[in-house]
Amino acid sequence: MTSQAGTAKAWGGRFTEAPDRRLEAFNASVAFDVRMIREDIRGSIAHARMLGQQGIISPDEARQLEAGLWQVLAEADAGDFALTIADEDVHTGVERRLREIVGGVAGKLHTARSRNDQAGTDLRLWTKGALVALMQGVLDLADALAEVAAANAELVMPGYTHLQRAQPVLLAHHLLAYVEMLSRDFDRLRDAYRRTDVMPLGAGALAGVTYPIDREMTRADLGFDRVSANSLDAVSDRDYVLDTLYACAVIAMHCSRLAEEVILWSSAEFRFLELADAFTTGSSIMPQKKNADIAELARGKTGRVYGNLVAMLTTAKGLPLSYNKDLQEDKEPLFDSVDTILATLGVLPPMMRTARWRGDRMAEAAIADFSLATDAADLLARNGVPFREAHEITGRLVRDCIAQGKTFADLTVEEWAAIHPVFARERPALTAIESLRARDVPGGTAPNRVAEQLVAARERLAGARAEAAALDEARSAVMRAVPQQS
Ligand code: ARG
Repeated sequence: MTSQAGTAKAWGGRFTEAPDRRLEAFNASVAFDVRMIREDIRGSIAHARMLGQQGIISPDEARQLEAGLWQVLAEADAGDFALTIADEDVHTGVERRLREIVGGVAGKLHTARSRNDQAGTDLRLWTKGALVALMQGVLDLADALAEVAAANAELVMPGYTHLQRAQPVLLAHHLLAYVEMLSRDFDRLRDAYRRTDVMPLGAGALAGVTYPIDREMTRADLGFDRVSANSLDAVSDRDYVLDTLYACAVIAMHCSRLAEEVILWSSAEFRFLELADAFTTGSSIMPQKKNADIAELARGKTGRVYGNLVAMLTTAKGLPLSYNKDLQEDKEPLFDSVDTILATLGVLPPMMRTARWRGDRMAEAAIADFSLATDAADLLARNGVPFREAHEITGRLVRDCIAQGKTFADLTVEEWAAIHPVFARERPALTAIESLRARDVPGGTAPNRVAEQLVAARERLAGARAEAAALDEARSAVMRAVPQQS
């Protein structure tokens, strides 16, 4: 005798009581995992094709399932098909709609599959897409900074340590430092992609499945690089989510540092740059205000991106093998970090491109506060004075100048000569450009070195751009793979 389950749940058979409404709401992931609906349907199409080819279901049943799934996808794309809490998650929701379209044969789709390997497959497909979008976002910002560097190749600014003026540098050099950070961010994303590119499908609930499935066929159809090697690991691994969250956290940190500098530089205290009106906001009370809200938000949102990483690390900690429902908590932090970073990478490039640089202000600040003192010490050292001694002599000179209210430029030839015989023959650099040119080492701020750096950075960015485009294209090809005629 078959007792009637209270609902049409995918797992209803064993139950005599209908689920409590409160359980249903708490348990459901459909409100957020609906974002993976395209990946879910595409994964099911691959699975149905494979079941048909292996004779696990008949070729005709496989065709019916595939045709129905394409229709569900078209409805989802058109926004014609809504999932509800009663669907529990996107996986059961899609199957429910498929049953409405193709009837009882829909019940064969879940042969040789579990929601555990299915959910992992969907999320990996989704994450691969997100990683490509993040790679492109990172490159957008790097390109914008390289462009601003190239367009302002002459501008000199103070370089800082401890936020104290230290030595003059080129603005381009400073901006290219961020290009380096963003290149590493690209690498981190690319690396996360490599580890995400593994197909769990075929792991079943945890132990593998009892049917003669062809995992290689599904892998190739879905464009994964390889299949998971251990079914227990396959359904419980979320390292790739953590890799992505970590990569997002570092991007957020880099964006936040850039944002902080923009905030400082656009203040009246610095006045190194002026942000375009279109990328600033005003105050509702102080009519004169122009606030760097975008930069502040880029800095502020870093908090939630870090939080998402810690949340997922904590969720995964202490889980026994293999799948546990805790793992459903993987999606919201991931989606939030990806959304937040993509939004940030959407606004920072145009904000940087449209900013106006105050070359006069930066040049003035670049040589103020004895920023050329190292050059003076270096001149002595080049002439045989041990550097420690040269440092001491120059330090005393700075102290005396401060006491007398003078700068290096105010000192007469006689005064220089009195400090050290070397200075009688030759005076140290008194302009920023001399100081810059002297730093002619690979990676240094000499204009020729910065030009070299810019060329290398642009080449690297172009290579990365091509790599991301190829991944994007491969993914699009999988997502639009036309119905098979067999
Ligand atoms: N919504 C679930 C998740 O995101 C799908 C897998 C459910 N599996 C299960 N055995 N209840 O993790």
